[in-house]
This record gives sequence, C-alpha cells and structure tokens, in this order.
Amino acid sequence: MKLIMKDLLCITDFNKEELLYVLKTAKDFKSGKLIADTLKGKSVAMIFEKPSTRTRLSFQTAIYELGGQPINLNSNEIQLSHGETVYDTAKVLSRYVHAITLRTFDHARVVELARHATVPVINALSDFEHPCQILADLQTMEEKTGLKGIKAVFVGDGDNNVTNSFIFACAILGISLTVACPKKYAPKKQVIEKARSLGQKLLLEITDEPKLAVRDADVIYTDVWVSMGMEKQGKERKIAFKDFQLNEELMSYARRKEYIVMHCLPAHRGDEITDAVIDGAHSVVFDEAENRKHAQKAILHLLLKK
Ligand code: CP
Ligand code: NVA
Repeated sequence: MKLIMKDLLCITDFNKEELLYVLKTAKDFKSGKLIADTLKGKSVAMIFEKPSTRTRLSFQTAIYELGGQPINLNSNEIQLSHGETVYDTAKVLSRYVHAITLRTFDHARVVELARHATVPVINALSDFEHPCQILADLQTMEEKTGLKGIKAVFVGDGDNNVTNSFIFACAILGISLTVACPKKYAPKKQVIEKARSLGQKLLLEITDEPKLAVRDADVIYTDVWVSMGMEKQGKERKIAFKDFQLNEELMSYARRKEYIVMHCLPAHRGDEITDAVIDGAHSVVFDEAENRKHAQKAILHLLLKK
C-alpha cells in the first residue's frame, strides 16, 4: 500500500485503512521485521518555531536510521523568523531537501508551507493538531490494550492540539472516547462536527465529572494544562483544572485492572499528573515516547518510498 497523500498535516488526512497501515508499519519497524533505507542520500529539514525534545529527537534518529540526513533548524536561526515568507521558504527548501517538518504556533503556517512545497510536509505540532504524537499513542494503545472495544478517557484540557488529534483518531477508528474537562475548556464545536463527519458513528462523550469518566476506562490520557503559547493564561488555567489532575485519589475510581495511563510529555508533574501516577504501575508514558521514533519512521517511509 502506498499513501496517496503528499503531506501529513492532520490525523484526519488518513482514513481508517491508512491509519491502521501506518500503525502496522510502525510496529514492523519496532520489531525489526522491517528495515529500510528509504531516505538514503536524502535530507529532511526540521523547522522548530517552538521547543521540542521528543519530536526533534525521534525525527532526527528516525531519519538517520532510514539512511537520511536530518537538518535541524531552529526558526530563529533561519530567515523565516526574520521576515522571509513561508512561500519563499517552501520554494527554496523544496530545491534542497526531500521532506520538511514544521512545529509551529499557527496551523495555517504548516498548511501554507505544504501548499507551496513540492516535497512532503509533516506537521510536527501546531496549535490545532499533533498527528505524529497520536500515531505513537495509538501504537502504544494497540500494544497494551488493543484498539477494539476499548474505552479511552482524556482528562484535562479538552481544547488543545493533542486532544483534537486524539478525538479525531478515536472517531476514525471507532474508539469510544470520553473527554473529562472543565466546561470552559471543552472541545470546540467545529472539532466535534469534524469528528462526526469522519464516517463512523461518533462515540464521543464530554463531561466535567472525571471520577465518573475514569470508572470503565482502559486508557486514561492527559496532557499539560497550559500548552506552549498559552503561558499568559497559566494562573487562570491552573485554578480551572485543579479537579482534573491525575492523582491517586482520582485513579482509585478506575475499576478496570489493566487500564493504562498516558501522557504525551513533557509533563508538569504536580499539575496535571502526580509523581505517584506518572511513575506508577499503570503508566506507559515512556513507551509512548519511544514509539514516537517508530511512528515517525513509518510516516517518513510511507510518504517517501517510491
Ligand atoms: N510530545 C512531544 O511532542 O514532545 P516534545 O515537545 O518534546 O517534542
Ligand atoms: N499540548 C502541548 C503538547 C506538547 C507536546 C503543547 O502544545 O504544548
């Protein structure tokens, strides 16, 4: 199977069949069943307008292991942050490299980059979506709980990039998802509408009662309360989210024996998750982090293989 898309901007760029195929490819890379030099003699430019540890390192190592050269570009070191347009950057980079990844504060920028670049563009996190993260999360869920018949619960900020991508991915795969969040930080109407349009019957519930939500959960996922770019709202958010912390008390309401706790990281320990929970027996956060590399390899391999 070859992906027909040129770019990966949103998890919704995949249909169910494609999504499962990417996950299978990531699994094969992880197990060693698949070894490829898809990027031999090729370069990938990675532009970061925001900080990154996992995305940067997982792409960098994935590109290297696929035989290619990663070029790490902090945006303040290139002309893009000194007035050069996205259009010109797209045109120029397309003459040098074989793919571009962009982490950006504004989703419209990665869309514009993809529109004008003649090489594949991958969204390495925008304010709207974080598709590469969710691929690694789905891979982790498949390993630990399977993807069929499970109930996933997201506790925390219902209106950020990771939550949006998780909502869409669950909708594409028909996974039942409850988002437990303060009413003010619920998923946007447009996100729910988009999820509803993805083909399957939407199994999405929104609640502000995390204790009820986690009861039958197989997967309990959280993310920071203050995403990059929202720092000014930090104080207000910490107050609004205080009952949405993954702590031992909340976890005592989870009745499924084998439930897993996920976090895309970086975690703000003591805010959205306590040490006891993130370091506890149910936590799979470092498997998620590892899977970023396998998922990244799968994306690059499938987008760039001839
Ligand atoms: N999860 C994630 O994207 O981590 P980084 O911000 O460190 O890349
Ligand atoms: N929602 C977080 C994810 C970080 C990987 C952020 O955007 O900062």
